[in-house]
Formats: sequence, C-alpha cells, structure tokens
Amino acid sequence: MIYLDNAATSWPKPQSVIQVMSDVIKRGCANPGRSAHSMARQADDAVFHTREVLAEFFNINDPMRIVYMPNTTYALNAAIYGVVRNGMKVATTAMEHNSVLRPLNTLQNKGIIDLVVIQPDKLGRITVQSLRKTLKKGIDLFCMTLSSNVTGVIMPVAEAGKLCKTHSITYLVDAAQGAGVIPIDVESMNIDLLAFPGHKGLLGPQGIAGLYVRDGIDIKPFIQGGTGSFSDSLFQPEIFPDILESGTLNVPGIMGLGKGVSFIRDIGISNIQLKKQHLIEILFNGLGKVSDISIYSPPPEQNSGIFAMSIQDLDSTEVGYLLDRKFGICTRAGFHCAPLAHQSLGTADRGLVRISPGYFNDETEIELTIKAIKSIVNRI
Ligand SMILES: Cc1ncc(COP(=O)(O)O)c(C=O)c1O
Repeated sequence: MIYLDNAATSWPKPQSVIQVMSDVIKRGCANPGRSAHSMARQADDAVFHTREVLAEFFNINDPMRIVYMPNTTYALNAAIYGVVRNGMKVATTAMEHNSVLRPLNTLQNKGIIDLVVIQPDKLGRITVQSLRKTLKKGIDLFCMTLSSNVTGVIMPVAEAGKLCKTHSITYLVDAAQGAGVIPIDVESMNIDLLAFPGHKGLLGPQGIAGLYVRDGIDIKPFIQGGTGSFSDSLFQPEIFPDILESGTLNVPGIMGLGKGVSFIRDIGISNIQLKKQHLIEILFNGLGKVSDISIYSPPPEQNSGIFAMSIQDLDSTEVGYLLDRKFGICTRAGFHCAPLAHQSLGTADRGLVRISPGYFNDETEIELTIKAIKSIVNRI
C-alpha cells in the first residue's frame, strides 16, 4: 500500500509518538488538573510540557494561551463562536474548508454577521491586492487558511496579518494544512487566533488539536464544564486555558503531539518542506506533460504538499477508486469539504484527485503512482 493522503491525516507516525502513547497508557494515565496524587501530577506535567513545545514551535509567548481541542474543526468553531458578536463584519476567502465556511454562513443566515468572501484568482491564489481591497476599517474578524486543502497553494498569511494589525481586525488562521511544513510565527505574522491539528503535519495522533488565543482577545467559551479549577464555582473560570478547556483532556494524544512536534524540530521544518516539495516536483515532472491530465496545484515552492489533478472524461471518485483498488494507492478524490474552492477552480462538477505525500514517502512510491495514473489515462 502507498499512503498519499497526508492532507487528510498523516501516516505513518514517528516511532517516538507511538512509543510515548503506548508507554503512558501502560504505565498509568490519570486525569490531569483534577486530583493531587502523583499519577495525576505526572499527567499534569506532561500536558504542560507539550504546551511549552507548541509555544516554542509557533513562537507563542505564553504556553497557557494554547487550548487543547479534539480537532481543528472544534478549534475553529470555538474561535469563531467565541469572538463573533452581533452586528460584526467578517471576511474570509472562497478557499476555506467547511469548518470555517459552515459556521460563518450559519451566522450570516441568522443575521448575526455580515460576511464578505474574497475570491481567488484562476489558480486558487488569494492575492495581496485582493486582501488590500477587503481588509480595511469596518471589518471585525478575518479568517484565512494557511494553505488550501484542495490545491496546496500557500496563502499570504504574513501580509494579511500586517493589514489586520493596521486596521485592528481580529485575525484567525486555520493552520490545518501547513502546520509542521510552513514555519508559523504568531508574533511576526500578527496572528490573534491560530487553529491547528495534531494529526496532520504535526505528526501526532487523531483526536488532538489546539487553539492559540492572543492575550487581549475577547473570547467567550464555546462549551462549559469541569476544568479542575475553581470547582466550588458555578461559573466557567475566566483564566486561560481553563476558560475554553472543559472536560478530561486527551493525555496520550497530547503526549503524542509533543513527540510529533519534537520530531519535526529535530529533522528541521525546512527539511520537511524541501522533501515534500521534491516529491511534488516529481509528480509535476511525471504528469505535467500528459495531455489528458489537468493539474490544479501551484509549483512546489508555492505549495504545502498537495498535487491536485483530474483526468479528462473521468470522474475524480472513479480515479480515486481505481488507484486504491487496482494499485493500492490511497488518495482523496471528490470535493474535500471545500465547495467554494471547487467552484472557483471550475471543478465543482467532477471534483479533483488530491495526492498529498508526507515526509515518510519516498521517490519510488511517487514513481509507482505516476505509472499507475498513466495506465489509468491509457485505460490499461
Ligand atoms: C483547511 C482545513 N481546515 C480544517 C480542517 C478540519 O480539520 P480536522 O479534521 O482536524 O477537524 C481541514 C481538514 O482536512 C482542513 O484541510
């Protein structure tokens, strides 16, 4: 089997991730922040350690401003529902995932917000020019993805951050695609809210993600409940991370995530980016001149690690099915929970096949994939 669906979730995981998770489950994994016994204190320390690792990785000054969440969708909803107030004007882009588009469209339909959607160019890029036109005084919140989950195109996140800072716009970045591949610095990029998954580029397990909230951002809790702190109070604590972090935490997941980020730090994020770019380049070289194939991804240097393509006359799901069943190659075909992106790219009828290599793939696997796609094109 060749796994090329790392944009959905990364696989395989580093050995250190597997090891720490199995060790903690075997050794004893108590509830952190609740009881005062030694096993609970160990869990507490482990949870804090990963907060520190993440804070260093994203250049976050205070690790306590990182809130653990079960996935990016949760983090994005907690951010959006947490900061939106009646009458706000919110901007986003047509390249967003439904985890951003659905809550924003629901809020717009209820008459709570006024929503502006920035359109990409023909290649799915959000230009700095289009950002300048929209990100002005009067916009309260701007939500943008770090990189498209359909094409892999990297968005001008730092440029948007500058505009948001100038016009006092709260800036939410969806780092589901690109965290662990593209360096993120919340200070130099002026990011106020950063939603990131543990299970994709950060090489942790499923079931863990995070939300960074800059000090000074007015955010209300999305859910309320037990935090282990202020247990005698009937109301949610206002302190971070407790305000947004109710319920028992995923300690094995958090520890796995810590090891995933440490692995990236040890390898070097630029080496991970270079490896992915190299694999994408092989796909471009191998398939770029095949006349029945259309490519929708930007060249490697503008790309977080996705090769999106279609084969003339074939539905994307059929190509995905053949790659899986005939060749044992795992890709993602269809619409990738990004309906506006597909509308913008003109692929809303048959979708695209998304090939997303990871750090652990090698050149041979990519060459075999090229061969498989060519034989589908030639119907052999
Ligand atoms: C750009 C983008 N945002 C949000 C999500 C949702 O992430 P999660 O599955 O961690 O909730 C995804 C998932 O693929 C994504 O690609």
